[in-house]
Amino acid sequence: MTRSLRKRRDSMKQKVLVTREIPEAGVDELQKHLDVYVNPEDTPMTKDDIIHAITDTQGLVCMLADRIDKEILDAAKNLKVIANYAVGYDNIDIETAAHKNIYVTNTPGVLTEATADLTWALILSISRRIIEADHYLRTGRFRGWEPMLLLGTDVHGKTLGIIGLGRIGQAVALRARGFDMKVLYYEPRRLPEKIEQSCHAKYCSLSELLKTSDFVSIHVPLDKSTFHLIGTPELDSMKKTAYLINVSRGAVIDEMALVKGLKNRVIAGCGLDVYEREPNVEQELLAMKNTVLLPHVGSASHATRDRMALIAAQNIIAVLIRKEEPPNWVHKDIQI
Ligand code: GLV
Ligand code: GLV
Repeated sequence: MTRSLRKRRDSMKQKVLVTREIPEAGVDELQKHLDVYVNPEDTPMTKDDIIHAITDTQGLVCMLADRIDKEILDAAKNLKVIANYAVGYDNIDIETAAHKNIYVTNTPGVLTEATADLTWALILSISRRIIEADHYLRTGRFRGWEPMLLLGTDVHGKTLGIIGLGRIGQAVALRARGFDMKVLYYEPRRLPEKIEQSCHAKYCSLSELLKTSDFVSIHVPLDKSTFHLIGTPELDSMKKTAYLINVSRGAVIDEMALVKGLKNRVIAGCGLDVYEREPNVEQELLAMKNTVLLPHVGSASHATRDRMALIAAQNIIAVLIRKEEPPNWVHKDIQI
C-alpha cells in the first residue's frame, strides 16, 4: 500500500477522543481499530476543549471529573458511544445521551476489590490513627514505647454499617469477617437472602444502622435519591464514638454538615476519599486530626486501572466496530 493510500484509509477510520492519559493497554486496543486522540496535557480538558474536539468524534472515553452535559452532547453531532473511565457515572447527562442515541458505559466489577481494599485502609487508618502516628515519628517525636502513646479505637468485634450493599459494599462486608465484626446493611429494598448470607450482613433501616454502627461506610451511587443522604440529622443520630467512611461520591454527604458535626464532636471522625466539590475540600476538614483525607484514589492500583482501560476500550469497539450493544451499557432502561 502506498503511503498516501494508507494515510487516506487511516483518515477514514472513526475517531475516539480520550480526555486524559489512561493506561496503554486501553489506548493500544483502541488504536488497532480507530483513530485515537489522547489529551497530551497532564490536566483535565476544559469544557471548550472537549466541545471543540468532539464535533467529528464517534467515541469518547471520559473521566469522572469531566462533566458531560447537554451543551457538550449537543456539540457531539457524530458521537455514538461514551465510555466513562469509572464505575460511577453521575458526571454524565445520561437522559440526554439516550435521547441522542448515544450509548453510555462504565467500568463495573473490575474495581470492586481495589475499592473495598481502600475502604479498609480508611477504616484502619482513622481508628488506629495511622496518619497521625506516621507524622509523629517523621517529625522526630518518637522517644520509645509509651503506655499512653497514640491510643486509638478497636476495629475487631465492632459493628460495621454498610449503606449500599452492591458489589463494592459486599466486598467490604466479606473483609469484615476477618475482623470478627457484626455487619449491618441498608438498601432501599432488602436484598435476597442468598446475598445476605454470603456477606453475613443483617438488613436494617437507615436510622437503625446509623444509631448502632461503630463504622458507617457508604457505597451507593450518587443520584437524586442519594444526594445529601447523610446530613445533620443523620450525623446527630450516630454514636459519638462512630466513624464515617466514604469512598462513593462526595455529595452523598452534606460536607458542611459533616464539618459542623465533627467540630461539635457528634461523631469521632471520618475517612474520606471523595468530596462534594472536587477538587475542593472544605478547608476546616484539613485542620482536623480526626479526619483521614485521600484524593479520590479508590480504584488506583496498576492492575485495576489497566483493567478499567481495557473495558472502556472494549465498550467503544463493541459499538463502533462490531456494531453491537456495549457490554457495560448503563442506561438500558432508558429507551434509546
Ligand atoms: C470512581 O470513583 C469510580 O466511580 O470509578
Ligand atoms: C460497583 O462495582 C458497585 O456496584 O458497587
